[in-house]
Amino acid sequence: MSADSAVAREELRGEIKGASPLARDTVSPGTHPHSRAHESAIKHVTGRAAYIDDIKAPADALHVALALSPVAHGRLTRLDLDKVRAMPGVVDVVGFHDVPGHTDIGPVFPGDPIFVEDEISYVGQVLFAVAAESHRAAREAVNTALAQGIAEIDEQPACLDPVAATERGEFVRPTHVQQSGDWEQALANAAHVVEAEQFVGGQEHFYLEGQACLVQPTEDEGVIVHTSNQHPSETQKLVAEVLGIPFHAVTVEVRRMGGGFGGKETQASPWACIAALIARRTGRTTRVRLPRADDMRVTGKRHPFHNRYRLGVDEQGVIQGGEITVIGDCGYSPDLSDAIVDRAMFHSDNAYSLGEARVTGHRARTHTASNTAFRGFGGPQGMMVIEAAMDDIARRIGEDPLTVRKRNFYRPGRQTTHYGQQVDQIKLLRELVEQLETSSEYWARRRAITEFNAESPIIKRGLALTPVKFGISFTAKHLNQAGALLHVYTDGSVMINHGGTEMGQGLHTKICQVVARELGLDTDEVRITATRTDKVPNTSPTAASSGADLNGQAARDACVKLKQRLFDFAHEHLYKDQGLDREEMRLEAGHLVAGHGESERRIPWGELVQAAYLNRISLSEKGFYATPLIHYDRNTGQGRPFYYYAFGAAVAEVSVDTLTGEYQVERVDILHDVGDSLNPAIDIGQVEGGFIQGMGWLTSEELKWNEAGRLISDGPATYKIPTYGDLPPVFNVKLMEGHPNSMASIYRSKAVGEPPFMLGMAVWSALRDALASLADYAEAPRLDTPATPERVLLAAEELRSRYDSAQLERGAP
Ligand code: MTE
Ligand code: HPA
Ligand code: MOS
Repeated sequence: MSADSAVAREELRGEIKGASPLARDTVSPGTHPHSRAHESAIKHVTGRAAYIDDIKAPADALHVALALSPVAHGRLTRLDLDKVRAMPGVVDVVGFHDVPGHTDIGPVFPGDPIFVEDEISYVGQVLFAVAAESHRAAREAVNTALAQGIAEIDEQPACLDPVAATERGEFVRPTHVQQSGDWEQALANAAHVVEAEQFVGGQEHFYLEGQACLVQPTEDEGVIVHTSNQHPSETQKLVAEVLGIPFHAVTVEVRRMGGGFGGKETQASPWACIAALIARRTGRTTRVRLPRADDMRVTGKRHPFHNRYRLGVDEQGVIQGGEITVIGDCGYSPDLSDAIVDRAMFHSDNAYSLGEARVTGHRARTHTASNTAFRGFGGPQGMMVIEAAMDDIARRIGEDPLTVRKRNFYRPGRQTTHYGQQVDQIKLLRELVEQLETSSEYWARRRAITEFNAESPIIKRGLALTPVKFGISFTAKHLNQAGALLHVYTDGSVMINHGGTEMGQGLHTKICQVVARELGLDTDEVRITATRTDKVPNTSPTAASSGADLNGQAARDACVKLKQRLFDFAHEHLYKDQGLDREEMRLEAGHLVAGHGESERRIPWGELVQAAYLNRISLSEKGFYATPLIHYDRNTGQGRPFYYYAFGAAVAEVSVDTLTGEYQVERVDILHDVGDSLNPAIDIGQVEGGFIQGMGWLTSEELKWNEAGRLISDGPATYKIPTYGDLPPVFNVKLMEGHPNSMASIYRSKAVGEPPFMLGMAVWSALRDALASLADYAEAPRLDTPATPERVLLAAEELRSRYDSAQLERGAP
């Protein structure tokens, strides 16, 4: 254990809640005992990792193409599917009236018809599906059918503006409010009132593996569903309901996804339902694989948000209170939007106390695809409003934005969020930011940049440090549970199965590590198998960054139970006459060890397992976990929705060509808190990937719809995700050391999947900083996102025209 770690543990002693043992030290990856490559790394890079399309299907398998609505809003007045059924190569055609069971497949609330019945709500909504011997034949049939006018649509005006929808009260779910104290009084008494509006754009998931599934009909009335899917249990339920059969007749299997990022939490289900319908009707294995352009049109994205804030601050720029309003553009149906806009509200404070504040969240209905989960789940969009405010306050009072941010951090006396949760580990946030400030040489670079900008009329540099505080737990309390199934075979090899899914984030690797650690084995001796609803039932989605927290604890629970049984057996049968202490038994380095020193006894794991088997001791166990302590009352808007918070901070430096709007990210420094890391190598990968994805969201990834509501950025040619060349040339990423989780999480680690995404805000704030230099840092320009070169240029021109003419009026040279 390092000295830092020892000190931190000492400090935590009185504070640690829960009883789990503290984990070992966190040191740099590579040398760290828990740093390990991803369980499928070799298979990923050699092309041997199987994705849905790699699964072999029988020669008579069917391929499906979808007929999509060409209009955003209207009524389907006639649909002649018999004509399509007669087309060459077509084996089956299904529409709304061919569904034997439920037709609404809304995941939480109703509102998502599997096929259009009469009302059409967005361009890309599925009218019907065609199955054929080949994908090409299916597509040709769809195109010909639509061209022949087999669908008649009465088009109606579409609403694509969430602000207008809000004004008219067109919501997918009711508005929610969180309030702490007298916000109006706080505004009235404040030294300054700062206010602004912003638009924060959406984001396409752009998982490398698109939506895909393969459904096999089984004996009796059932199906086996192979799907690229974050939520197998929900797909099981929906497929069963659509077919009108019991849940136990449906088995859903997920080995891995080629990325999910939230886009397969609910929106992988429709394709499985459609494929299952066809598989049952035809008795043939059925594949659905969406072409990229269809995938981008049909599925929802990150919610675009319109945010407003009005905050009262004191002379020091410390927020006294005020109001924040966020409007999430939900698209046509609820999907997960209630929880997403809630999470935006929960994060509209980021790391800062809002004082006496009211936060209002609207869920606007528009005629686009139903927007859905995406890494951060509304949190990023909520944080953007307060990060904008930090920069604006700094310009108002003439201080460096970092100074203002630090003054506003949660601290003793200002430790309670606007929804009533105490922020734990406030010292950690302060230390983390101070360490990063030093390691990134923030202040020296600040001075250098100010000097540079004074001498450089066109190229302007900008610098920003932004923190992240992200709440860990599903805000829907019941989802915070997990199960695991552990088998030990008679050769001593171990198989673990759990409710989480692998999407590249390294969850399976971490779970193998947990099991190996509990059983004193090498990670290679533990194998993980595909996630299946018939192995571990009633699981939650792998989402909210909670995969390792929940399933790791469930796997550990199974190991602990099995271990106890083996110890009892060993005590009873193997050491009975030697008087060895049952309490001292342990599993380490492939052995059961009992006693110490002279009286130490060691039995190899394989021998122990054999002996247990011959004595008829069960070598299989299941585990379960439910997160303690969390609750949230939506009636009062108060509670403790999160088990803990994960922290991080990033410093970004940019240079902007203020004549073209083009810019470059020159350097990024990140320090991120994962408690005691379960696997630093994987965690660093998550931090790097999350940051880059967040940067892409705020800079280059622009979704464009035409006036008719048709998505026109529907492929990689028009929608720009970051590439290798967009990596900052200097990119220092470190994990915070010596700060185990203050809560009893698995080995005192912290969730890492989503929090680093929001570190990308540093790039956006640095762009505003560079632009502010055009106004002598007296104001920060409004900079909606994505901050494309076009938006940066417009902001620069606007500032320049105002400040240059002001200088002319003052008679400056
Ligand atoms: N990392 C990779 N490589 N691919 C992904 O799809 N999804 C992210 C994050 N990291 C994702 C990823 C999202 S949105 C979440 S919620 C978490 O991983 C889910 O996994 P976890 O709970 O096991 O961290
Ligand atoms: N995060 C991610 N996914 C979810 C959540 C959440 O808080 N709630 C329901 N699905
Ligand atoms: Mo992640 S957005 O919670 O799947």
